[in-house]
Amino acid sequence: MAEPTVLELLASAARRLEVAGIEEARLKAEWAMSRVLGCRRLELPLRSREPLVPPAFRSFEAAVQRLAIGEPLQYVLGDVEFMGLVLKTDPRALIPRPETELLVETVLACRPLWDRARAPFLADVGTGTGCVVLALASRRPAARYLARDLNRPALDLARENAIRLGLALRIEWAEGDLLEGVPAASLDAVVSNAPYVPTAQWETLTRSIREFEPRTALDGGPDGLAVIRRLLPQTFTTLVTEGIVFLEIGDGQAGAVQSLMAECGFADIQARLDLSGRERVVFGAKR
Ligand SMILES: C[S@@+](CC[C@H](N)C(=O)[O-])C[C@H]1O[C@@H](n2cnc3c(N)ncnc32)[C@H](O)[C@@H]1O
Repeated sequence: MAEPTVLELLASAARRLEVAGIEEARLKAEWAMSRVLGCRRLELPLRSREPLVPPAFRSFEAAVQRLAIGEPLQYVLGDVEFMGLVLKTDPRALIPRPETELLVETVLACRPLWDRARAPFLADVGTGTGCVVLALASRRPAARYLARDLNRPALDLARENAIRLGLALRIEWAEGDLLEGVPAASLDAVVSNAPYVPTAQWETLTRSIREFEPRTALDGGPDGLAVIRRLLPQTFTTLVTEGIVFLEIGDGQAGAVQSLMAECGFADIQARLDLSGRERVVFGAKR
């Protein structure tokens, strides 16, 4: 019997994923196929009549099986692009989201931080895959960085990413709870995409998030702000005077987070909007 062609396999995989209730079934099947063939997704039409030989066929089948049980595409492909960097991604850490690029862009655009006489020292709290600290380190190589996470496997993944990108030596890695143990007045900036999803919202998240991504990366307690509430006073203590804190927040949390920042003593508190007009990043300074 003739081996099935790329076109036939794509059609049957997309049907199978649709039946399994997977969103964007065709697109996901195409991404899996392009990886197996080692080509760009947009080149697939040129290869549609090609038969898929057994090793490639088996790889494609394995990928489709993982997608069919709801595993996120980025875990199946094994990487994701963030701020132009290709990062390894797997269930040890949250998949970097496009929204988080706004957090990095806000830090990069902060002139008072980068115009200092000496190279600034920044901490990324809850580094996960390392996406935030690695994007910063690749764009601002003269600065010093500390990457912290409570979750050892996530920190290992972040380090692997840093090694792949040749950035590992610029960053100090530390397993630990928020900024516990970091000396007072030692940091010029604290950047964090800490967990901020209210516990009650967990059940409303898609199955692929609930079943495959680490809950500790997302669950922010009853009102979503339990981690940020603990982080802010530690941040105030560990920042130098004129130090700046940058936080990613959930939709509708800006007012509450800005009040918490003010209570801790932060000044010049501002929010940045994402492309859909939602406040997704807040920042403020220690004066
Ligand atoms: C929303 S994820 C962000 C990951 C990554 N920075 C990103 O933007 O994709 C939050 C991260 O904070 C870490 N985390 C949660 N609680 C923490 C704590 N108390 N101390 C340090 N890290 C913590 C989680 O393990 C997770 O990696």
